[in-house]
Amino acid sequence: MKNYKIAVLKGDGIGPEIVDEAIKVLDAVASKDGFNLEYNEYLLGGAAIDVFDNPCPDETIKGCQNSDAILFGAIGGPKWDNLPKEKRPETGLLKLRKSLGLFANLRPAIIFDELTNASSLKPEVIKGVDLEVVRELTGGIYFGEPRYKDDNKAYNTMIYSRDEIERIAHVAFKEAQKRRKKVTSVDKANVLEVSELWREVVEEVAKNYPDVELEHMYVDNAAMQLVRDPKQFDVILTGNIFGDILSDEASMIVGSIGLLPSASIGGKVGLFEPIHGSAPDIAGQGIANPIATILSAAMMLDYLGEDKSSQRIRNAIKKVLAKGYRTKDLANFDAKEVVTTSEMGTLIAEHAAE
Ligand code: IPM
Ligand code: MN
Repeated sequence: MKNYKIAVLKGDGIGPEIVDEAIKVLDAVASKDGFNLEYNEYLLGGAAIDVFDNPCPDETIKGCQNSDAILFGAIGGPKWDNLPKEKRPETGLLKLRKSLGLFANLRPAIIFDELTNASSLKPEVIKGVDLEVVRELTGGIYFGEPRYKDDNKAYNTMIYSRDEIERIAHVAFKEAQKRRKKVTSVDKANVLEVSELWREVVEEVAKNYPDVELEHMYVDNAAMQLVRDPKQFDVILTGNIFGDILSDEASMIVGSIGLLPSASIGGKVGLFEPIHGSAPDIAGQGIANPIATILSAAMMLDYLGEDKSSQRIRNAIKKVLAKGYRTKDLANFDAKEVVTTSEMGTLIAEHAAE
């Protein structure tokens, strides 16, 4: 029987609850389709600070490197908010992404017909939306040096090298080839030199993909277009911070930030996590929506080559939503029954194993 080693990073806040549900669903499809998932837990974020005084211990990096894939929940919370920057949970996540070479972050936003009413946008605007943000994840202003702060002045640096732009652009064009063959590259080239280079390099890379249409869009316009007419987008290619912002915006097209998964790839081992944070305000109450994490687990199965199983999971989510089961975040949208985090996980696991 095929065996996959999965590094599990539950993290903080709702992280443990939602990851547990993803594992429940993974186990259901693994036994159905005849493979085994071996889980090894490591600490990241606040949970790691509490034990190791380090948000990303070496042991965690090594554990991840020695796995076939990484399943991650979320990190952060008020308990660790006042720590110096290098000790913050977020810094741990950034260090992990960087150490593992995960430069490409894929964030698909797909509408579930069953949740058309959950979006803050009109049904006719969002029906049929199917886009993917391809976010550069290990460069840009998040990592640029120099960075500095004193009481009167602070700065960060947005840097992209040709190599960094090339490799993420290739990922975006390849994604587009699997989809509707359109890339919208988002930048701020009317103001920033770094965006001028971004645009030039993306143009060059595009020549290798004559079947894919390329357009450029300024980030302010892209933010507006995403709510005006999201159906115009197929693949959105963008840098680290613009991608962070636009993918949160894209989640509201779908209806809840609790619905959007992501895959971080480019290194030896892929990492799969919901795009949302650790929601400390609702942690432990059993009301978090596990679907973003369960969909991330499905992306992980695609990555491992178990696409039959990932399809089972996606179909199961659709069925469960069609029957009217909702977690609290979606309680006002055609809910027949409001269920807990764990009940939602069980329902999806059962339907996936049918
Ligand atoms: C995300 C998060 C992270 C980011 C934070 C927690 C560092 O917002 O994955 O989108 O900004 O990349
Ligand atoms: Mn974010």
